[in-house]
Amino acid sequence: MTEYSQIEEQILREVGAAPDLVALEALRVANLGKSGRVTALLGQLGAMDVPERRRLGPRINGLKQTVAEAIARRRSELERTLLEARLAGQRVDLSLPPPPRRRGVVHPIMQVADEMVAIFAEMGFALAEGPDIEDDFHNFTALNFPPGHPAREMHDTFFLRPGPDGERKVLRTHTSPVQVRVMQRANTPPPAPWIAGGQTPPIRVISPGRTYRRDSDATHTPMFHQMEGLVIDRGIHMGHLKWTLDAFISRFFELPTIATRFRPHYFPFTEPSAELDVQCDTSGGEVRIGQGHEWSEVVGCGMVHPKVLTNCGIDPDEWQGFAFGFGIDRLGRLKYGMPDLRDMFAGDVRWLAHYGFSAFAIPNPASGLS
Ligand code: PHE
Repeated sequence: MTEYSQIEEQILREVGAAPDLVALEALRVANLGKSGRVTALLGQLGAMDVPERRRLGPRINGLKQTVAEAIARRRSELERTLLEARLAGQRVDLSLPPPPRRRGVVHPIMQVADEMVAIFAEMGFALAEGPDIEDDFHNFTALNFPPGHPAREMHDTFFLRPGPDGERKVLRTHTSPVQVRVMQRANTPPPAPWIAGGQTPPIRVISPGRTYRRDSDATHTPMFHQMEGLVIDRGIHMGHLKWTLDAFISRFFELPTIATRFRPHYFPFTEPSAELDVQCDTSGGEVRIGQGHEWSEVVGCGMVHPKVLTNCGIDPDEWQGFAFGFGIDRLGRLKYGMPDLRDMFAGDVRWLAHYGFSAFAIPNPASGLS
């Protein structure tokens, strides 16, 4: 065995046994580095005579080549081992449940409003809207609250600062001003003959929206929601009102029979006026609708006062109608059992996660409401 073979064998053995990349690098420097062992052998070639150099040149260059290849091979071996160790340590267990993801929900008030709209839409009601900031005329005067009349004190009104003309706007205290806007609109001739609108009665609209009163306790919040209803037609009477409300309530609470009663009441804009109560049972701290011997008020209503019709330009001798105003929040509490009204507007995501609805649970009278 030649001297070179011995050297080669020894280096290859050392390289093959290098335990890690640091040791391997040290071997590379010791053999192929500037003052390395193999580099030194190559350096000796320069001092040789030509025949000897011809003989030994390929041998020494071959040695260098073999060592370089062995080092590269060992390096990729060590790198692969390292990578495999790292991957083994980072194993992902695909059978673990994923971390919970917080999904947005539909607020129960919006869900209840949508349920109500779905039911009334099926009965042929159209949607109408009005502004939250109202003028005195629409919120009070046109609805037969004469200026200075004590009925104005029925609502604890939020007044805005007077405008340049001295007029004090209000945050609407109920959705009834939308009745006025709809009836006025029904009387305005269309702006041009080819533009639709300005139809005269019959009218059948509902109007959900925010309302405001200076009230705050477990069953009152300064901002709350109402849904107004207005029907104007010929020969309309209390029987139509009672049927409409009963049909709605049985649909809304998803109960075939549910006792209701009219209780006489006073509103300046309806005559006669009533509140409608639904049968319920509150024993055991839970409200059960359609059972028991107690009553819960759900809606104010009545026959539209002839003065209101006149104020809106509709002839009360030709047209009659009824109106009602539901508390949306109140209905929601009765149906879904939320104890404190104030929680509805506190914006607590834990409360919402509990009472909220999936965005895909779109109320539809055909496929189910809730
Ligand atoms: N606007 C009344 C209220 O807020 C409810 C109502 C509406 C009563 C329509 C009669 C007719 O209490």
